[in-house]
Parts: sequence; structure tokens; C-alpha cells
Amino acid sequence: MNEPKPLPIAARAEGCPFTPADELYEMQRSEELPRIMVPSPLLDEFEAATITRYEDAKNALSDTRLRMGFVFDPEAPRTMLNQPGNLLNYNGADHSRLRRMLTGAFTVKRVRSLRPMIERIVSDRLDAVEQAGAGADLVQLFSTPIPTLVICELLGVPYADRADFQHRAQVGLDVNTSRETQIRNLAEMDEYMATLIASHRESPGDNLLGSVVREHGDELTDDELVGIGNMLLIAGHETTASMLSASTTLLLRNPDQLAVVRDEPDAVDGAVEELLRYCSPATAMPRQAAADMSVRDQEIGEGERVVVSVLAANRDLPEAEERDLDELDVRNPPKHHVTFGYGAHQCLGQQLARMELRIALPALFNRFPTLRFACPEEDIEYRTKALVFGVRNLPVTW
Ligand code: HEM
Repeated sequence: MNEPKPLPIAARAEGCPFTPADELYEMQRSEELPRIMVPSPLLDEFEAATITRYEDAKNALSDTRLRMGFVFDPEAPRTMLNQPGNLLNYNGADHSRLRRMLTGAFTVKRVRSLRPMIERIVSDRLDAVEQAGAGADLVQLFSTPIPTLVICELLGVPYADRADFQHRAQVGLDVNTSRETQIRNLAEMDEYMATLIASHRESPGDNLLGSVVREHGDELTDDELVGIGNMLLIAGHETTASMLSASTTLLLRNPDQLAVVRDEPDAVDGAVEELLRYCSPATAMPRQAAADMSVRDQEIGEGERVVVSVLAANRDLPEAEERDLDELDVRNPPKHHVTFGYGAHQCLGQQLARMELRIALPALFNRFPTLRFACPEEDIEYRTKALVFGVRNLPVTW
């Protein structure tokens, strides 16, 4: 088998999975927008103008000429880029129409009301870690189940089906799977979600999918509802799971910073913001130019693809004037970052993700105040070649 291709916009330094590769910093210093090759099973490998500076990222992501490259074609095989309902495939008024139907479920107030449910889930998972004892793998017992259970309860998806949909989410986000595998994988996801949607059409449940069917069922096709369900199921667990594992790993490597999260409740919100900036789990934001345009004074031709490196942009914030952004400093959170994107497509679930992190991280370190790695640090494996960065194994003891 060929060695999987790395995503150059998310390349990591040799020996440290949290540090951007030198090449990314070189691109950032360059006055030009470098063109690089991006692996993709659906578009084949494509060339893209690469945005690595923070100001450029904000300008690009709020420019309506840079669009999601989606054209829905019912005759063509269904892929992630040819799927109705997925907000990341829409532009302009079509995007606003769909997004408006979902925003109510993700407001600060609505997310706040989920706190007791999230606290209960976190506490149960901590019990499971305790029962497993020394050597417990936090990826399996803590970071993956928490956001998965939360999104299952929120959407009304049976948790018992998790092994299948977690596997399909990972295949869907892997830039190294073949186009055929991607098409087959999405067909399975659609089939699964279609059954759930059909049951909500018959009798809308008391959950997010049920309420979308109740309130907007007449305006949405079954295809759109399936796409909405799949998008929320994938987006709702994979990135947050990655953040929980990555944050825990980083804090175990930096015990003084871990102590802040464990012992200073008032510092937790800021610490989570700094961890979000530093880990940047969703690595790439791809777009396509609908017209000749420029970013800074750099020209981008109509039809050209553009990709924003979240990892690089988050190390180039205005704060770089005052502090070293390659250092993790949980007492010094950034005012802004692009971990949740920017502009019209900015993450719909960001308040939910923040709430999960703000509850789960201090709870973990308070339940196990002496938490530490149960293996040499070098044995922790990372997923650096997919669209979402990840930690594969995190055995701990206390
Ligand atoms: C730490 C966790 C998360 C991270 C880092 C993250 C990151 C992102 C990013 C970067 C985007 C924008 C992509 C782009 O512009 O190309 C996005 C969009 C989105 N996210 Fe998240 N996300 C997280 C958690 C969640 C959760 C928990 C949910 C839902 C339950 C969610 C739902 C969505 C949706 C629906 C969109 C599409 C919004 C649109 O196109 O209008 N995300 N997310």
C-alpha cells in the first residue's frame, strides 16, 4: 500500500504533532500566496492557493466570491460534495435558508439548557475510566464517547449504532480513501439516516431531528433532511472528540497549565479558548473563486481553488506582537481565532463544543488529580493525515 499523503496545509513539525511544520511558516512569510497540491479522493489531487495568515484568512472567509464548490447533480454519484442538506455545500441565499432552520437549536441559551445532560454524561464516563483502572485509554472511554453521546441525545440517534457511524465519519474525513470507498460510505450513511428520518416523518421525536421535521418538514425534501442529519452527526462528534483528546494530551505534557484547568474554575473558559487555538482540529477550509479576485494584493483567478490553513492562521494572530503563539499559555487566551472558521459558514455547533470542553476537562483532572500518561509519550499516536487532526490512543494512570 502507498504511504498516505499528508495534508500540506496541516503539516506538523518533526517530533511534535502540535507544532506546524517549517514549510507552513515559510508559506506565511511569503508575500505570494503559494499554490500547493491538496490530496482529495473526490476532486483528485487539486492545486490550491494557500492562505496561512490570520488577516488573509478572515478576509477570504468573509468574501462572498469565495464559495463552496458545490453543484447538486442528482445524476452524478452522491458524494460529500454532491449532497443536499449539508450546509458546507451551499452558498448565499440557499445557505441562509437552510442555516436559519437550524440556528435555534444551537443558541447560547439552548446550549446552556443542555448542561445537566452533559454533566451526567461526563460523570458516567469518569466512572467508566475509574472502573477500567490504570492503563485506561481515554480516547475509547472518555473523549470519543462524550461528544458522541451528547450528539446522539440531542439529535435522537440511537447510541447503540455508534460503532458504524463513527467508522463512517472517519472514512468520510480521510483524504486518503478512494473515491469509490467515499461513494459507498456515503450511501451507507444516507441509508442509515433515511430510516431515522422516515420514522421522524411518521412521528417526530422530542429531539433536534424531530423538531426540524415538525417545524420545517414541509419546506425540506427527505434528501435534505438526510443530509442535515448526517452533517450534524459527523460534525457533532468527530471534532469535539479530537479536541478532548488533544487538549488532554497537551495538558499532560504541560503540568503547570493542567493545574490551572484543574484548580482555577474562573480560568477554564479562557483555557479552553487557548486550547482551541493551539490544537486547531479541523485543519482545512477549502473554497473556490467564483470570479477573478484578490486576497491582500495577490490575484486569484476565477475557478481557482483556495484553501485556508487553520493551523497556520492561528499562530499568526495580532497577539503575536506580545507573546509567542507557539507556546501554549492557558492564562493568556486569544481574543479571536479561526478554529471554528469565520464568516457565513462559521461553526454552528461552537457553543455546544465549548460547553462540552468546559465541563469535561476540569472534571477529568479533578476526578484524577494525579493523572499521567501510562506509556512513554513517544508511544502516543496521532492522526495527522485526515481533515480532522486526532489522537489515536491515550492510555493513562493516576
Ligand atoms: C471543537 C469542535 C469543533 C470544531 C473545531 C469545529 C470546526 C468547524 C469549522 C472550522 C467549520 C467551518 C468550516 C468551513 O468554513 O469550511 C465548522 C462548521 C460547522 N460545524 Fe463545527 N466544529 C466543532 C464542533 C461542532 C459541533 C459540536 C457541531 C454540531 C453539533 C458542529 C456543526 C457544524 C456545522 C453544522 C457546520 C457548518 C456550518 C455552515 O456551513 O453554515 N460543529 N465547524
